[in-house]
Amino acid sequence: MNLFADAQDAKVVTHDGSITLYNHEVGECYHSKGGALAEAQNLYIGGSGLCQRLQVGHHGVLSVADIGLGLGYNACSTLAAWESQETVPDLQLTSFESDTKLIRDLLTGRGSWQSNWDHRWLGYVCRFQLGGLSSGPLQLLTSSGRHPHSLAQYTWTIVISTASSNGLRCLFDQELASVPKFDFIWQDAFSPLKNPDLWSADWFEALRAHSQGACTLMTYSVARQVRDALTQSGWQWQKVKAGPGTKRHWLRANPTA
Ligand SMILES: C[S@@+](CC[C@H](N)C(=O)[O-])C[C@H]1O[C@@H](n2cnc3c(N)ncnc32)[C@H](O)[C@@H]1O
Repeated sequence: MNLFADAQDAKVVTHDGSITLYNHEVGECYHSKGGALAEAQNLYIGGSGLCQRLQVGHHGVLSVADIGLGLGYNACSTLAAWESQETVPDLQLTSFESDTKLIRDLLTGRGSWQSNWDHRWLGYVCRFQLGGLSSGPLQLLTSSGRHPHSLAQYTWTIVISTASSNGLRCLFDQELASVPKFDFIWQDAFSPLKNPDLWSADWFEALRAHSQGACTLMTYSVARQVRDALTQSGWQWQKVKAGPGTKRHWLRANPTA
């Protein structure tokens, strides 16, 4: 196997050279061996058609949900994709993560997996004020930035809590009431075996209730229980061919009309 794992910090260099971590407690890596960066760019950004949606023009704020911020690959790839387009709407990126220590490492730019990140990505994560970060049950961090070629602005909100379907419903009624309904969802929790609550029909129903009719949800899991949970909660799904060096299929879902 063409992987290098460091037992001390569980750092794993994936096939495209980007670095992920192995979580000993969960018994899984944060990304596929095929490439942490490749997964973010091919599955979530490429597979969803985010850039094409921006190119044809999007009315109102583009709202993206990032379930399982983790090491920040999907979130930073979203910001980079938005910045790469000439004409864009404002962007609201909402990330959910329960691991406060991981967030602290990510947002200081000193995470062991960030050693080969470029300055642009480090700029995204280091813009947060970490002064008040504690280990309370719910915290929200927000940062913002301008598009390089237009007046458009992004807002990145990180919701630090153990997400659950009921918790999500309360957040959308209260703290996240001003977040526009999602246009895109990156469903990237640990596997359904290890993280079952975030793959249940109830979870997908809570996400659907806060999604636009044309929302696109992307995920790496094509497990039967995931497909069934999506169907039960009003999503129609299709398998899409996965990128090179990884599994055969990923999943794309849209709310049922
Ligand atoms: C597969 S990793 C995500 C990788 C990430 N999307 C990236 O781009 O680097 C899954 C993440 O989900 C987080 N997570 C698991 N259960 C959660 C929960 N109930 N609420 C919030 N975050 C959770 C884990 O702490 C972990 O960081």
